[in-house]
Amino acid sequence: MHKTTDVVVCGSCVVDVLIRPVPLDHPIGGGQLVRTEPMQLATGGIVSNAGTTLARLGAQVAAFTYMGDDDWNHMVQTRYAAEGIDTSRLLVHPDAPTSTTVVLIDEAGERTFLHAVGAPKLLDKRAFLNNLDLFASSQAMLLGYFSLLPNLQHDLPEVLAAIQEVNCLTAMDAAGTGGTLDDLLPSLPHLDVYVPSFKEASHQTAETDPERIVATYRQAGATGVVGVKLGSEGALLCDRDGTLHEIAPVTPPGPVVDTTGAGDCFVGGLLNGLLRDMPLPEAGRLAAACGAQCVTALGATTAIGDFATTAELAGLPAY
Ligand SMILES: Nc1ncnc2c1ncn2[C@@H]1O[C@H](COP(=O)(O)OP(=O)(O)OP(=O)(O)O)[C@@H](O)[C@H]1O
Ligand SMILES: [Mg+2]
Repeated sequence: MHKTTDVVVCGSCVVDVLIRPVPLDHPIGGGQLVRTEPMQLATGGIVSNAGTTLARLGAQVAAFTYMGDDDWNHMVQTRYAAEGIDTSRLLVHPDAPTSTTVVLIDEAGERTFLHAVGAPKLLDKRAFLNNLDLFASSQAMLLGYFSLLPNLQHDLPEVLAAIQEVNCLTAMDAAGTGGTLDDLLPSLPHLDVYVPSFKEASHQTAETDPERIVATYRQAGATGVVGVKLGSEGALLCDRDGTLHEIAPVTPPGPVVDTTGAGDCFVGGLLNGLLRDMPLPEAGRLAAACGAQCVTALGATTAIGDFATTAELAGLPAY
């Protein structure tokens, strides 16, 4: 089938209301009025963060998840459309609201979250299999977050296999604790790309050494590109043939302000590099440059540049 889309980004799509400064060192209850700066609205979750990163790098991106029949949905549609992201498969769930978070930021920048998980958590096998045409028309899909999609967990291997069957590469990211290796195991053979964060990977594998983490995924049946994100230390990636590549961190192009979403931006960059047929070390370098841009601004994708800017930051000017 002719591929009209590069990546379908699936799963967590959240509207964030950012409020600061909020004095959280003493109770703010009791009917007090707390004055703040003007509140800001932002989109978050992997669909927003990786989707926007991919779109800025020039990819054709489609978003796929459940939304509520509410004003938050309209806000997301407007933001995504402005980034050139296809919103036609943001499916309205009849009973559940759009996922929302209030982010309370104190004077020191520490964040406290009030979260209503909402519709994306209800994604299940039927939602994916009813939309297989979308995956058939795309080169790749990215799903997040593993361990936070309870209605999909049991059927995930079958869903990923069906998506691979229509010639769409599968990639996934985790969040929270990352869940257990036992839960992940049946899905590993059906993933073309899996590079969780160190926290998620060490929880899953009970290992703290990046090489041992990767070896554990391999022994558990992973056949695709696997690895582990290592924050300010970069990442370790392992090619399909077992070759390890240490990805050095890219120096952020400004002071580190907010690291939220760096992992999503990294995975977006990695997929973009791979879809451009870059060798894995170069795709990893592009990914690290996306992570490095992310951390220099408030909001995951505020500082993500276009492909030329990001490739130059990554030291890949030949592209
Ligand atoms: N301070 C930093 N300096 C340079 N690069 C960074 C920094 N922090 C993150 N990165 C880049 O971003 C990538 C992803 O960051 P990290 O390992 O924190 O992901 P994560 O834990 O999944 O993040 P999150 O879940 O908050 O999005 C790293 O592999 C690295 O390349
Ligand atoms: Mg992450």
